[in-house]
Amino acid sequence: MPMNIWENLPKPFLILAPMEGVTDIMFRQVIAKAGRPDLFFTEFTNVSSYASEKGRWNALERLRVAPTDSPIIAQIWGKNPAHFSETCYALESLGFSGVDLNFGCPDKHVNKAGGGAAMINTPELAVACYQNAKQSTNLPVSIKTRLGWANPSEYQTWLSTLLKQHPAALTVHLRTKKEMSKVPAHYELIPDIITLRNQISPQTKLIINGDIRDRAHALELHAKHPEVDGFMIGRGVFQNPYCFTDHTPTREKLIELLKLHLDLYEKLRLTRSSYEPLKHFFKIYINNFPGAKEIRAKLMETHSIPEAREIIKDL
Ligand SMILES: Cc1cc2nc3c(=O)[nH]c(=O)nc-3n(C[C@H](O)[C@H](O)[C@H](O)COP(=O)(O)O)c2cc1C
Repeated sequence: MPMNIWENLPKPFLILAPMEGVTDIMFRQVIAKAGRPDLFFTEFTNVSSYASEKGRWNALERLRVAPTDSPIIAQIWGKNPAHFSETCYALESLGFSGVDLNFGCPDKHVNKAGGGAAMINTPELAVACYQNAKQSTNLPVSIKTRLGWANPSEYQTWLSTLLKQHPAALTVHLRTKKEMSKVPAHYELIPDIITLRNQISPQTKLIINGDIRDRAHALELHAKHPEVDGFMIGRGVFQNPYCFTDHTPTREKLIELLKLHLDLYEKLRLTRSSYEPLKHFFKIYINNFPGAKEIRAKLMETHSIPEAREIIKDL
């Protein structure tokens, strides 16, 4: 039986949120260098992709991990319970400390395929996918979701349904699918969600997600709600890649991170990444210091790693 990672984390623990197109094997290594969270998650991987001959290579590339990732949770999504079984069975040998089921993604393609937040409207299917996952692996199985589909008060029935399965951990992004990320996270519901967790499944670790900027902000929330076990930070990392530490990054440190990201990009040569999407990351590193805007504008004109290196070499 592998160790249950959820029982071996500090309280509160901090997690880098899974973010498609962002938290890949390269970016996670950059964040590990800046200051790692207690736990990483992969971007989500589709179970039906893994279960198909055509999609498996792509799924396995998404699930690649680096030594600095550990401990790391594999996040998966889909709607076919048999494919959840097949994928979870394989994950144990791929170096993961747990499996997380995405029942919260609001992307219209994902929802049209019946996955992510669409699970909120098909709770019986969600339970079937969870049970299949659980029966197919010795790894702890957790769930990440939203409050509901349209109305925040849906959390009462939806989260109760999930907690009755006694997942190892439950991450609640404090918004509904319809709210996307357009309204402030519903921090006012944290006390009620704690009560629900305590009543139905006290052993489930409760993780709060939404608008948390950095470690200091997470500790502030924890002081108000000490029964929350962990906090997950997503977009905060765009403002400050050192958000899991107490450091304010210097210009030199940020440029060092960009250089590392470029090196990793070159070294790993993932089939699914092209140079253009890499440009989205420039703003994370070349930001918040005098002259950053001008350097960034030049970087955005580049078409290759050597060109980008030329611009930052003397900084
Ligand atoms: C670019 C992007 C990609 C995302 N991809 C995923 C994903 O693959 N799996 C997931 O569970 N959530 C995903 N999310 C949602 C985040 O994990 C998180 O729940 C959300 O951003 C709210 O947290 P924040 O306010 O700290 O950013 C994504 C969010 C963003 C901005």
